[in-house]
Amino acid sequence: MGMIFDETYRPFFESVQTTGLTGQSFPTCDVTLSAVATRTGKRAEAYRGRASGRLAEFESCAGADSVQKMLQDKPDFVCVATPDDRHFAAAKTALEAGCHVIIEKPSVLTLDELDQLQQIATEKNVLAKVVYHKLLDPDHKKLRTLVVDGQLNHVNNGYCTLLEPKSISGGQFAEWIKGRNPGTYVAVHYIKLIDFTFGGKLKSVTCTGQRGLVGPADGPTWDSTQLRLIYEYEDQREAAFDIHTSWVTPDNFPGYVEQEVQFRFDNGLWNGHSRKRGIECTIEGETPFTKKISMNNHYNGEFLEPWNERSQRGYGVEVIERFAREVAHVELGGPVEERGQRLKEISAYDYNDLSADRQVVAAVQAMEAILERHAAGTPDSVAYLNTDEGGLVLYSPGSVKPEILYKGQV
Ligand SMILES: NC(=O)c1ccc[n+]([C@@H]2O[C@H](COP(=O)([O-])OP(=O)(O)OC[C@H]3O[C@@H](n4cnc5c(N)ncnc54)[C@H](O)[C@@H]3O)[C@@H](O)[C@H]2O)c1
Repeated sequence: MGMIFDETYRPFFESVQTTGLTGQSFPTCDVTLSAVATRTGKRAEAYRGRASGRLAEFESCAGADSVQKMLQDKPDFVCVATPDDRHFAAAKTALEAGCHVIIEKPSVLTLDELDQLQQIATEKNVLAKVVYHKLLDPDHKKLRTLVVDGQLNHVNNGYCTLLEPKSISGGQFAEWIKGRNPGTYVAVHYIKLIDFTFGGKLKSVTCTGQRGLVGPADGPTWDSTQLRLIYEYEDQREAAFDIHTSWVTPDNFPGYVEQEVQFRFDNGLWNGHSRKRGIECTIEGETPFTKKISMNNHYNGEFLEPWNERSQRGYGVEVIERFAREVAHVELGGPVEERGQRLKEISAYDYNDLSADRQVVAAVQAMEAILERHAAGTPDSVAYLNTDEGGLVLYSPGSVKPEILYKGQV
């Protein structure tokens, strides 16, 4: 029940409680937040107080076994929104209990974990999905539309940046930031965008970064990271992508985050800037501290609709609602004996299915391994995918023998 719960899950559950969930293949159904699991229960209690009237009563489960306790409520689906190194355990427990699961990005941190979750989901006949809400950003959808329609031909290279404010590393994540890096937290959005939009085979991963602000200059906690991915396409031509991230941008930055992409094609150029596509607003005494000058009203905004209803909407909320519809289609979208067919149909969506997250998880696992070696005194390792030695293989300067991070094919 942290930041992402408040920005996307909460508005979804609050609004669906009044409207019900509608879809073409299933009758309008109720979706109720029945139970939540947190470490201490404090945020759940605080939210319960604020939510009065907007949500039916929910069970609050706290402590080390909070997920198991929550599952006693037999939910239809479970959303995992813990810090990224705690996704796997919660997702595994929920899948084993036979629940459909959606996990915040990045799904998991290693390919072995991904294999395990996929296997359990298959055995239990449930959906295992991941949230990459930027794929639903209208600008990114337009980019993909132009690529799929053959208007933009063959990507050659590109760069992306996502810079988070210091309040993330110094406040919100301060408790569990030790040994973590902003690349796993946010570069992953662009790894997925590149992987999903352009396809191709990921060939290699390199990464470096800077330390000294969030933690000691020789420690394992990173201020900023620069990741490079090389992809190869069917015609054997390659593309390179650089993704720069940080969580030490000054808190008085005019926007919540800085998000920019540029992709260069054989016949064109795509420049996207999520802040500069929008508005600039100044309110004396408030901007850019309690309110930001440039806000992303496409992701998640609170609005007064023209018909005077208050709403909170945007692609961050839409992606959760879409998942609930996918679950409803599987469970209620036709005869019970055809459930298996519907499960197969929804599992085939490669924008959110875990089965389509392999190259993204490989990039994350490689990035984490490269940064770990760097922190241990050996920078500049490189990971190669699907070589004769294994599926994910790490080579480090000065070492003849590579480390096999993952044996099977990615
Ligand atoms: N889609 C996005 O753009 C986006 C944006 C922000 C965060 N996220 C992702 O959402 C996840 C959570 O991020 P956040 O910013 O909300 O973090 P946060 O620190 O605000 O909240 C994390 C929550 O997890 C709970 N928690 C921690 N360990 C737990 C455990 N073992 N069992 C149960 N609950 C536990 C904490 O009590 C807290 O309520 C991360 O994976 C992050 O990458 C996604």
